[in-house]
Amino acid sequence: MNRYTTPNATMGYPGRPANGGSNPRFYDFDDGVKRLVKWQPSVHGAKACYNELLASHLGQLLDAPLLRGAVVFVPDEIIPGDHRQVGATEGFHFATAWMDGENFVPTQHYAEIANADELPTAAVFLAWLAVGDQDGHNQFLQRKVVTDTAGVQTQTKFFKLIDMGQAFGSFTWSAADVARVHTSYSLPPHMVAHLNLAKLADPIARLNALPNDKIERCLIDRPMEWNIPDADVGAIVTRLTAARDTITDILRTGNPAIT
Ligand SMILES: Nc1ncnc2c1ncn2[C@@H]1O[C@H](COP(=O)(O)OP(=O)(O)O)[C@@H](O)[C@H]1O
Ligand SMILES: [Mg+2]
Repeated sequence: MNRYTTPNATMGYPGRPANGGSNPRFYDFDDGVKRLVKWQPSVHGAKACYNELLASHLGQLLDAPLLRGAVVFVPDEIIPGDHRQVGATEGFHFATAWMDGENFVPTQHYAEIANADELPTAAVFLAWLAVGDQDGHNQFLQRKVVTDTAGVQTQTKFFKLIDMGQAFGSFTWSAADVARVHTSYSLPPHMVAHLNLAKLADPIARLNALPNDKIERCLIDRPMEWNIPDADVGAIVTRLTAARDTITDILRTGNPAIT
């Protein structure tokens, strides 16, 4: 991985997203895509960006509602002064494509989303990775114009998971930490109200059927500069396969209200 194989940032936008304790910022890139950049090293911890990267890949594997992220390169000469003050530096970082929309407000937005059928997969995905800090925030309402086969355009809203910085329960896990596989995961309470065991059956079956090698292939790509040891990658593969096999118990123990 080098800067010629990743998108390169061309311009930093003024302003900042709503919330965002790690000071992510918006940039244009030379492939024409505007993205939210999350910095490595992160003020949140050494594994924050690696967690984002592998969660975004594993999310695609399970068809969970979250964007595929990418490693990007931000060159020194285009970083605005106010971004430098909050820790922006030249190098390889994590980014997702910019979404139009706003932070998800459960009381208001569940009724508006077009992808409620993806909530059970989102739940199984969060429980599989034991993603922390999802209770009060870190979901997004994406607004998108969807064109049907007749060419008719409709403004549509989608539920999206964001912020996988605390996948595996921590921004700073070690191989020894993730070797202790979680036996329970409590979903955000607002999601619980939209789930039942029958709805969870299909995504659980799809997770149970994921072969080890597909999981493994989601984890190997990362920039050398992030200093993620091979042993940590191996520990995560072992953890993910164990949690895959016990996902039903993880969900039932953590969410007795789901029946
Ligand atoms: N792809 C995106 N497009 C537009 N806004 C986003 C996107 N991802 C996150 N955001 C916004 O940026 C904020 C911070 O992102 P987040 O990943 O939660 O960063 P942090 O780890 O700093 O909390 C979110 O609360 C949301 O409002
Ligand atoms: Mg966040």
